Amino acid sequence: MNERIADSHRVFDRVSQEYDAARPNYPEALYLALENLSGIKLDGATVIDVGAGTGISTRGLLDRGARVVAVDRGERMLARLRARSDCPAVLADGNDLPVGTGVADLVTYAQSWHWLDPALSVAEAVRVVRDGGAVAGWWNSVDPGKADWLAANQVRLAESCPGYIGPVLPGWSMPPIAAAMSDVGLAVADIWIDWTRSVRLEDFLTDLRSHSYMASMPGDVVEELLARERAELGRVFPDGRLTVPMRVYLAVGRRG
Ligand SMILES: C[S@@+](CC[C@H](N)C(=O)[O-])C[C@H]1O[C@@H](n2cnc3c(N)ncnc32)[C@H](O)[C@@H]1O
Repeated sequence: MNERIADSHRVFDRVSQEYDAARPNYPEALYLALENLSGIKLDGATVIDVGAGTGISTRGLLDRGARVVAVDRGERMLARLRARSDCPAVLADGNDLPVGTGVADLVTYAQSWHWLDPALSVAEAVRVVRDGGAVAGWWNSVDPGKADWLAANQVRLAESCPGYIGPVLPGWSMPPIAAAMSDVGLAVADIWIDWTRSVRLEDFLTDLRSHSYMASMPGDVVEELLARERAELGRVFPDGRLTVPMRVYLAVGRRG
């Protein structure tokens, strides 16, 4: 495992406040697709939410009636989650889950699987889900193909942030969780869901601060970049509210 991946929880811990304040939620359609592709009703389901972070995905699952155990390696990220939800929240490595075999209906990775070991994590998930259960990974992303201002914003970030990962990079794709699940014999289905985010400019900038590629840059450089984005985006949205085209990619692997 490379250093960037091994240390990702430390990077996120540094920006847990910004993450909690400004990362987008997931649309209702994501949770409906999760039920449809997995064949599992969230209401009453036992879910292990791996890389739960500040709890965006965990709260989405809890709100739909799931019994969730949140797992994360970041102490500060988990502290934010605990402040807003009273489900079990365990500081642990998602590659080595501290739960029994066959205990879960679902193991979920929202915006997190790419930070884990691709083979170990999926093998652990398969151990933890019951027969007929499922493993699911999903990621929100901006959709720069739908708005020139967003494409320009992402190109500026790609040019200025050495660790930028995102849809304007040549050859970029969502993390290959579908292939990893298929390799261990799960029956995989995936889907893209378009949605639109309405967000205040200042929250959009705070969201940018919480991305790992920015969280690992020197503070003064980040401030300069964000001042530039505030000016550029303020020209496009003078009322200070952005309409952002988004996409969620969801992959679900069914067991048995
Ligand atoms: C981008 S956040 C996703 C948070 C949340 N699921 C969401 O929907 O916003 C990724 C999270 O994965 C966690 N993480 C990274 N490596 C991990 C590992 N090996 N085991 C458990 N969590 C891990 C990080 O600490 C971070 O909180």
